[in-house]
Amino acid sequence: MNISLGTPLQSSAFKVLLLGSGELGKEVVISLQRLGVEVHAADRYADAPAMHVAHYHYTLNMADAAALRSLIDQVQPHLIVPEIEAIATDVLIEIENNKTATVIPSAKAVSLTMNREGIRCLAADELQLPTSNFRFASDLDSFRAACDAIGYPNFVKPVMSSSGKGQSYVKTPDDVDQAWNHAMNTARINQGKVIIESKIDFDFEITLLTVRARNPKSGDIETHFCAPIGHQQQDGDYIESWQPQPMSDTALTRAKDIADKITTALGGCGLFGVELFIRGDDVWFSEVSPRPHDTGLVTLASQYQSEFELHARAILGLPVNTQQHSVAASAVIYAGIDQSNLQFEHLEHVLSHPNTDLRLFGKPEGFTKRRMGVVTARAENTDDARDIAREAASRVVVKA
Ligand SMILES: Nc1ncnc2c1ncn2[C@@H]1O[C@H](COP(=O)(O)OP(=O)(O)O)[C@@H](O)[C@H]1O
Ligand SMILES: [Mg+2]
Repeated sequence: MNISLGTPLQSSAFKVLLLGSGELGKEVVISLQRLGVEVHAADRYADAPAMHVAHYHYTLNMADAAALRSLIDQVQPHLIVPEIEAIATDVLIEIENNKTATVIPSAKAVSLTMNREGIRCLAADELQLPTSNFRFASDLDSFRAACDAIGYPNFVKPVMSSSGKGQSYVKTPDDVDQAWNHAMNTARINQGKVIIESKIDFDFEITLLTVRARNPKSGDIETHFCAPIGHQQQDGDYIESWQPQPMSDTALTRAKDIADKITTALGGCGLFGVELFIRGDDVWFSEVSPRPHDTGLVTLASQYQSEFELHARAILGLPVNTQQHSVAASAVIYAGIDQSNLQFEHLEHVLSHPNTDLRLFGKPEGFTKRRMGVVTARAENTDDARDIAREAASRVVVKA
């Protein structure tokens, strides 16, 4: 193995094309920039966070196969790094088959995880991992029958959706029709299909960041785990996360085993966010992102190599270190208003605690529930870190 990198903006450049330019991509770009990688960032809207730190940026609909193919022809990247789910995955499969570029972590991983049906069938049916009971439905009659079969309460999610969009918590049969309409109206890409999942009564949920990276001596791909991250979700969106989340040795061993199996099946190199539900020693697989995870923003404060640096290193074929150096927490900052050109005030108070840090993503437009930034805090224990991060985040005043 001889990993080498060239000089950006010259013919020796090692080029990465990022598909999706949100706040997680922005941190990946910063990590790649530090290694002298030439970064091309794309998104469906102009001035997206990662575009601010990339060498080149492009605005296009990445679900449009022709537009995506022509961008790849133009850039000729070595690596294609998807950061969002709504991508014309057929193009990625074609690119991988023709060996035109390497798709991170693999075209299979990207296409299976963009659809809840693909990843759920792989996890539950093929790999026999423990999951909630589930059914799929594509019309109202079969949806009603599926809800009755799964029982109540249950969770309903469009198969193509993320961040809680179009999801419902169905408490009783009376909520069924409303859940169907909600899923059909608000799914990000409306496939007309939903998954119905039984509710898991977990003690807590975690993200187990799992890295597939090459061993520098043998060149073999090895699996590494970060310490488990606990998190709090509200309306399908994460509001705070902390690391480490204490759990039994048995549960941690089971969590790692599940994460190892699912990421091995997806293949390739890179960091994955494996979402798991934990009750006592029992562990259920929920879903997996084949890329850095929002709850993993806490690793900016807690690890020698954040999840973004780990992803950057792993995709370049470089060795990784998943060790944690501090207990930490993260708390999100919402816009709270539907406005652009926002101003973030009182930041000196936000950062008055010596162990806090702040990221403002630079999104051009705010919505009430749009994540605009995050505060991280280090402390002796996770309770204190959470309190400090939450308090600091609450001090940000967002104005139009
Ligand atoms: N079957 C379930 N049982 C219990 N809680 C669930 C279940 N499915 C989802 N949730 C809750 O809803 C959150 C969001 O669901 P998830 O499937 O992760 O959607 P998204 O892709 O939007 O993140 C989870 O983190 C968890 O808190
Ligand atoms: Mg999730």
